[in-house]
Amino acid sequence: MKILVLGSKGQLGQCLYDQLSHTDHEVLYTSRLQIDIADFESTQIKLLHIDPDAVINATAYTAVDKAEEEHQTADLINHLAVANIASICDKLDCFLIHVSTDYVFDGNSELPYTESDQTNPQCVYGDSKLKGEIAIQSSGCKYIIIRTAWVFSEYGNNFLKTMMSLSAERNELRIVGDQVGCPTYAQDIARTIRVIIESFKLKKVHSCLYHFSGNFCCSWAEFAQNIFDEALKLDVIASKPNVIAISTKEFPTQAKRPSRSELSSKNISYAFGIKPSDYTLGIRSSLMAIKNKTY
Ligand SMILES: NC(=O)c1ccc[n+]([C@@H]2O[C@H](COP(=O)([O-])OP(=O)(O)OC[C@H]3O[C@@H](n4cnc5c(N)ncnc54)[C@H](OP(=O)(O)O)[C@@H]3O)[C@@H](O)[C@H]2O)c1
Repeated sequence: MKILVLGSKGQLGQCLYDQLSHTDHEVLYTSRLQIDIADFESTQIKLLHIDPDAVINATAYTAVDKAEEEHQTADLINHLAVANIASICDKLDCFLIHVSTDYVFDGNSELPYTESDQTNPQCVYGDSKLKGEIAIQSSGCKYIIIRTAWVFSEYGNNFLKTMMSLSAERNELRIVGDQVGCPTYAQDIARTIRVIIESFKLKKVHSCLYHFSGNFCCSWAEFAQNIFDEALKLDVIASKPNVIAISTKEFPTQAKRPSRSELSSKNISYAFGIKPSDYTLGIRSSLMAIKNKTY
């Protein structure tokens, strides 16, 4: 298959390179420099010329707090440009694999969110991502949308990497302890996408939206604690900072985040035999890659 990756320099984009480069597929990795999805006309010309069998959209406007002010840019990248890509995929009759977020939910449910649960984004970023999902679903193109959460890895900017940097500077860290989610290793999202692509050859894959996240839910403070515990075990750090759990009120941010957003990965497990992302293994693998500079 000919596969086009958009946003190849992002966190997920780089994991897609790791997971797809040793397959038999012809994969074209493009960053903003090669394809700027905000330029609709040029994106259309380039996609029509490449004529892929599948497009993986790893681009996004992911600055959750900044989006509260830059709502037009968030809407352009996460909604309007996605609508344009979906419409081109429809013309090309190619599959669009797209990634979305748990921030489409309000976080008021005590139960894990399923794909059919009511969405109710609380921030501009979540709202723009939801509009992107809806645009794909109404475009007529063949699609798989994967909603995921709290993405971390050895690449890019993410919570694990921020914690590692802060641990070098401070003995004590005050981290939010009343927001709960399921951290998801980006390499596992990329692996999941590889499995879905492999299954195109084996069976008819129907357009669908799935949830995929980590197998352990925790607060940001617990996540930080677990990162430091593993980092100490693996000799990535010499000592652990003291983690103090604080409330969201004590750490106000521009964007409102869901207080509890556990995603149920049952449907994707059933459809493709994919297990939820292994939280502990993900932390270890990221730390080992950082320690050995293998990324
Ligand atoms: N990170 C999380 O915690 C999280 C949680 C839930 C869901 N998600 C979703 O997971 C997906 C992957 O996220 P990620 O963490 O890999 O994000 P990321 O590291 O921020 O990567 C996003 C990529 O999109 C690119 N991009 C932005 N605007 C573009 C444009 N106009 N044209 C082409 N490329 C453009 C960026 O390029 P530049 O580097 O040039 O800016 C960047 O490489 C996204 O759909 C995100 O919404 C992420």
